[in-house]
Amino acid sequence: MRKPAILITGASGEIGHGLVEHFAANSQHDVVALDLKPLEAPLGGRCTANLAGDILDQALLQRIAAEHDIHEIYHLAALLSTSAERAPAQAHQVNVGGTLNLLHLAHEHSRRSGHPVKLLFPSSIAAYGMPDRATKAKAGKVKEHEFNAPSTMYGCNKLYCEHLGRYFTLHFQQLARDRQGSGVDFRGLRFPGLISAFTMPTGGTSDYAPEMIHAAAKGAPYRCFVDEEARLPFMAMPDAITALTKLAAAPAGQLRLRTYNIGAFSVSARELHARVVAEWPKADVAFARDPARGGIVDSWPGDVDDTAARRDWGWQPAFDFERAMKEYLIPNVRAFYAKR
Ligand SMILES: NC(=O)c1ccc[n+]([C@@H]2O[C@H](COP(=O)([O-])OP(=O)(O)OC[C@H]3O[C@@H](n4cnc5c(N)ncnc54)[C@H](O)[C@@H]3O)[C@@H](O)[C@H]2O)c1
Repeated sequence: MRKPAILITGASGEIGHGLVEHFAANSQHDVVALDLKPLEAPLGGRCTANLAGDILDQALLQRIAAEHDIHEIYHLAALLSTSAERAPAQAHQVNVGGTLNLLHLAHEHSRRSGHPVKLLFPSSIAAYGMPDRATKAKAGKVKEHEFNAPSTMYGCNKLYCEHLGRYFTLHFQQLARDRQGSGVDFRGLRFPGLISAFTMPTGGTSDYAPEMIHAAAKGAPYRCFVDEEARLPFMAMPDAITALTKLAAAPAGQLRLRTYNIGAFSVSARELHARVVAEWPKADVAFARDPARGGIVDSWPGDVDDTAARRDWGWQPAFDFERAMKEYLIPNVRAFYAKR
């Protein structure tokens, strides 16, 4: 009997680091990490396999499925929002084509092994499209089915992949006479902007928050690409890891949605700046709104309604804004730069 395995695509990214740490410490499963660039030591060494490869490489995916008994896939590999907007055709290939490959892998593996395969998908608040700032302010906490008209390639990719996942789970091969279902159990989360104390984001549009904090901690000047009124929901990285693993563990019968909002805290750039200056009085932050990137931030909701996640699988963030800053970000970011 082979050990059950967890496949993590995009394992070398920000969420991947946290997730690999989590499974290496807590799981009895084999952990298979896949990324264009393999995970660095020592984290890479804590995986059963640490593979360098592309999710668009079908032969590689087939080899992985043949060599490991995959029960869960955390499909993190993607081009993030700013990168996707700069290379939309490539973003579609990686974000949609790659997700379709992983859904097929999950289906084929389920058929061969006889057990369902869960596919955890990190969607985003980019799946929303608020028409203007006034509507955004008036809407407050948006529900999953509202404002689903994203204005970015990344948001369109995410929203479509949510639908693909729902299709594979509920409607796959609906015309087949001996319809057996796909065996794929797709579970998606619409993450807000994530802030890690240990890694710096690249290619995202909510990056101004972690960038401002990290710049202040290392004493570097920062030009913020949104204005002070810009508001987004954010989450500390440990809560993002909790959300993924908690949703994965939820009994299938309890899940009334295939993709859930999850919230933690909503802050404006002004509030964030004030908290950063309270901690680092010499922080040198200038606000210089980039109309294009600032416009994308304005098109994302200021907050999300996560009632369904709380009701169906007990979602509860551990970190509000103050606790995220005081207990997670400030001490860890300080220690991180003190060592350098
Ligand atoms: N970080 C956030 O704030 C945030 C918010 C919402 C959703 N998400 C989603 O969570 C997931 C992970 O985000 P992250 O912050 O860790 O991003 P990241 O950019 O840090 O990591 C993504 C990883 O995917 C890898 N990758 C890209 N293309 C690949 C390919 N073709 N084959 C294999 N690997 C490939 C990259 O090398 C990178 O290591 C993404 O799907 C992202 O859209 C992130």
